Amino acid sequence: MQEIFKIGLLGCGNIGEAVAHELIAGKIPSLKFKKAFVKDLNKKRNIPTNFLTDKADDILNDPEINLIIEVLGGEEPALELVIKALENKKHLVTANKELIAKHGPQIFEAAYKNGVQVRLDATVGGGIPIINTILDSLKANEINEVVGILNGTTNYILTQMKRGHSFEQALKEAQEKGYAEPDPTNDLEGIDAKYKIAILASLAFGNYISPDQVFCQGIKGISVLDFNLAKELGFSIKLLGIAKKFAQDQIKVKVYPCLIPSKKPLARIDDVLNAILVRGNLIQELLLVGSGAGAKPTSSAILGDVLSIQKLTDSLKSVMPYKINSSITPNNGFEQNYRFYVRLMVDDQVGVIRDLGNILAQNNISLESISQKAYNDENIENNNQTEEAILTFLTHEVSENNFELALKQVRTLKPIREVACILRVFE
Ligand SMILES: NC(=O)c1ccc[n+]([C@@H]2O[C@H](COP(=O)([O-])OP(=O)(O)OC[C@H]3O[C@@H](n4cnc5c(N)ncnc54)[C@H](OP(=O)(O)O)[C@@H]3O)[C@@H](O)[C@H]2O)c1
Repeated sequence: MQEIFKIGLLGCGNIGEAVAHELIAGKIPSLKFKKAFVKDLNKKRNIPTNFLTDKADDILNDPEINLIIEVLGGEEPALELVIKALENKKHLVTANKELIAKHGPQIFEAAYKNGVQVRLDATVGGGIPIINTILDSLKANEINEVVGILNGTTNYILTQMKRGHSFEQALKEAQEKGYAEPDPTNDLEGIDAKYKIAILASLAFGNYISPDQVFCQGIKGISVLDFNLAKELGFSIKLLGIAKKFAQDQIKVKVYPCLIPSKKPLARIDDVLNAILVRGNLIQELLLVGSGAGAKPTSSAILGDVLSIQKLTDSLKSVMPYKINSSITPNNGFEQNYRFYVRLMVDDQVGVIRDLGNILAQNNISLESISQKAYNDENIENNNQTEEAILTFLTHEVSENNFELALKQVRTLKPIREVACILRVFE
């Protein structure tokens, strides 16, 4: 007969409360909810108060509880508490991407030493089963690329901008709909996506990659103008997390906004949806699309993990999902080529394109397209004698180094008012 699992929750906010509801409803007879650790016992919640405690030890030291679900978020007290739970031989399911991205090695090691399991499917992509797919279903593959729209908030903002809303308007709408936090920094600067791609890269390539090693650029600086120009060129703009393996020790892990050819499936993933594309030697290409956040989809991932652990027999020891202290350093040592889209704000005068062309040619950069248009923003008072123009160009593939060198020289040209937007093309 299957052992009944008694569950303790660390945290009972958005996600914790939804998980508690499912457990209290008794729809999964093999799981029994015991207690949830929270900060504020007086906060209004939709679960009976006898399930709540503000003392973590009530859960960590309860010998009846065999599995902890950590949904506190952040590093502390989450790290200290999950380590203690693992040392007390309790299995762990977590939705905390920051915790796993930064402290995965320590957590997996503690679980390994104590013969208990750690599952983390809810840390990336909410309800999309991407982590378990990489760890289980794609195990026979050599995965060479994982690319994802990993943050629903920024995807919503970019989608609204594609529809003509300004960045400020789109952000406000995202906040009103509850998609963006009052302080949206982690989403807008790509930090949330950075944690997620660091986790995916670590698991897909079998080597721990810390979020500090991930190149990261957010979506600030992109304007509706860029969406219009991108559309004319046949592209969409998306914030992507990209982990790519070129050889055993040559890995790139980056987050940045990209132009994506409009006909590619990723270009059509809009609003708050997330999508993750995996390329492997056997599977070729796999695209998973779904709700990247929200209480119910995330509960689906968490409870799925709980049931997977329960299914394992006691004799099965936990395994490390990746090596630690590997000498592999991502984003080091070799150059990657990209096509670049650049939007410059320039003085509308003769010779700008000629001077730009000379610099690009000196740096071995050839152009796929270039266009200049007069720019009249009635909202901006123009004290300048010279009119302003928008100059956009799309390069053929060029090394990042050559591009940076050329850009440095371009910035010194007198008619260049601003290098307003630079986007790489995701091929
Ligand atoms: N929201 C989503 O859609 C989503 C999706 C996927 C993954 N996740 C991840 O799931 C985790 C939880 O997210 P959430 O949206 O549920 O967060 P949340 O609503 O802020 O809930 C956090 C919970 O942790 C408790 N808590 C925080 N600090 C504490 C402390 N020092 N001592 C005791 N309790 C503390 C809070 O207690 P009080 O209730 O008393 O304040 C609250 O119950 C995060 O790691 C997040 O990244 C969230």
